[in-house]
Amino acid sequence: MPGPGMELIGEEEKQALLEVIESGYLFRYGSPDDPNFKAKVYQLEQEIGGLLELPYTVAVNSGTTALLVALSGLGVGPGDEVIVPGYTFIASMSSIIYARAIPILAEVDKSLNLDPDDVRARITPRTKAIMAVHMLGNPAKLDALKAIADEHKLLLVEDCAQAFGAKYKGKPVGSIGHAGTYSFNIFKTITAGDGGMVATADEAAYRRFFGFHDQGHSPLRMGVEVGRRPFVGLDFRMTELTAAVLLAQLKKLDLLQTRLHANKDRFKAAIADLPGIDFREITDPAGECATLLTVFLPSEAQARAAAQELGTRVVADSGWHVYNNMEQLLEKRTITAENCPFTCPYYKGGEVKYWKGMLPQTDGLLARAINISIGVSDAGLGSAFGVTVRDGFDVVDAKIEEFRKVYARHAG
Ligand SMILES: Cc1ncc(COP(=O)(O)O)c(C=O)c1O
Repeated sequence: MPGPGMELIGEEEKQALLEVIESGYLFRYGSPDDPNFKAKVYQLEQEIGGLLELPYTVAVNSGTTALLVALSGLGVGPGDEVIVPGYTFIASMSSIIYARAIPILAEVDKSLNLDPDDVRARITPRTKAIMAVHMLGNPAKLDALKAIADEHKLLLVEDCAQAFGAKYKGKPVGSIGHAGTYSFNIFKTITAGDGGMVATADEAAYRRFFGFHDQGHSPLRMGVEVGRRPFVGLDFRMTELTAAVLLAQLKKLDLLQTRLHANKDRFKAAIADLPGIDFREITDPAGECATLLTVFLPSEAQARAAAQELGTRVVADSGWHVYNNMEQLLEKRTITAENCPFTCPYYKGGEVKYWKGMLPQTDGLLARAINISIGVSDAGLGSAFGVTVRDGFDVVDAKIEEFRKVYARHAG
């Protein structure tokens, strides 16, 4: 099973869907005078805005389009560079490419998120934004990244796809940068199969986000339209069906978080005494999502042997999240032959090159890392071993035993 929200899909989501189907309104816009129209998308935007402590939210159809809307809406475009970690999902890079800007890959540190020192080293006169990705539910080092962004007058975009519900030093992730984006695909904290959200404190940015996601229209299509649309937009709208499921899932967020933290704390404490074991640096233990427990073994050989016996793989071998395994990026394979944005005349940075091994610090860390599932069980991510949010302490304890035995055989 994939993510924690998916594990708890049940009667509430079913009822929410039925309600929408029976209302006759599947589109986010409906007649405000008709009591049957429940405006679920709008309601979801309000509820998530409240949770994120942000006044402006736009529901979209995926975490990828959320990123594209955020980048383009904030003005990232041709000629710009965006610094992004080499350990993330391809959507972080593909959204930059479709915004017609250039992804500049940077190292992660032991937090498995952007290394602020490396970010600083990669700033050029063309840098427009830093994309902080909160990988595997663990907030990036936002204090340091925000300070760098402020110092160099850069945008800070938070890709919170894997960290919906997380907090960094008391503030929801996504509320610290200029915009936060979220995903509701099946591997995420809460899910409706697919879906996304963009959030910001900036009203002007919000108006651009809304317009981009809905053919250039003003927020909620009020006070528009014909003759006054500011730019050409697209359609990334969320449906009432998706929003209804997400509203039902939101009610389960507290329960999810409590269970995830209890299981993760138990697992971590029970293996902390293993000789030579090390853990991923967690920037905010109480605020993170606790969906995964990442351990570092002393050597790559030990990590590979242990991962194989556990039926999983080291993080370096994830086909989804490691730049080394993203052939479409490494080879700059674009949809049309002109190879934009890499050949864009607005871009003055010379030839853009990506290659395997270009981030040695990241490679070294990921080769020794194993992701233990606490609530996101995904072979592609490299977390085939572990527990789910449904599992109680009996299952957790059995998995701990198994892990300890395997560890002792290979690294003990
Ligand atoms: C870090 C990260 N960014 C963006 C996305 C894109 O989200 P979606 O699959 O909803 O388009 C994902 C999804 O896996 C992700 O993990």
